[in-house]
Amino acid sequence: MTDSPTTISMYERIGGSAAIDLLVDRFYDRMDTLPEAKTIRAMHADDLGLIRDVLKRYLSEWTGGPKLYTPEKGHPRLRQRHLGFAIGDAERDAWLTCMRGALEETVPDPAARQELDRAISGLADWMRNR
Ligand code: HEM
Repeated sequence: MTDSPTTISMYERIGGSAAIDLLVDRFYDRMDTLPEAKTIRAMHADDLGLIRDVLKRYLSEWTGGPKLYTPEKGHPRLRQRHLGFAIGDAERDAWLTCMRGALEETVPDPAARQELDRAISGLADWMRNR
């Protein structure tokens, strides 16, 4: 029997920081160009550079990789941080359209992709505030 760790993080399963970087870049590329994402794109700064970096840090930590978010920003309080933006079903759906496309493009393992999709969809549901 080989000595293997009992739990492998989602971060490791999908390929670590390179995979997170690619996922987030493809996500914001979609938000920047898809007509159905126009409303949520307009909520963001003109320059998406900063938020790309923040989401990479957040997802690194959230998937069980290096803690790159909380040391800099403190407790995520993600719902609270979104209260200033009107997020209803339509905004959630637009956000998830961008994320699902990015997941399809960058996470080849179907099981990992499905698990991530489910977990992120739950988070996006919870972010609604209208
Ligand atoms: C459901 C629809 C969502 C919409 C419309 C939305 C929109 C936004 C907007 C407008 C910002 C501010 C960007 C800026 O400062 O320029 C933001 C920040 C952020 N969002 Fe979302 N978001 C959504 C869901 C999510 C989800 C599901 C996650 C996590 C997987 C997430 C993670 C983040 C993070 C980490 C930040 C940065 C917070 C900080 O300042 O530290 N968002 N979001």
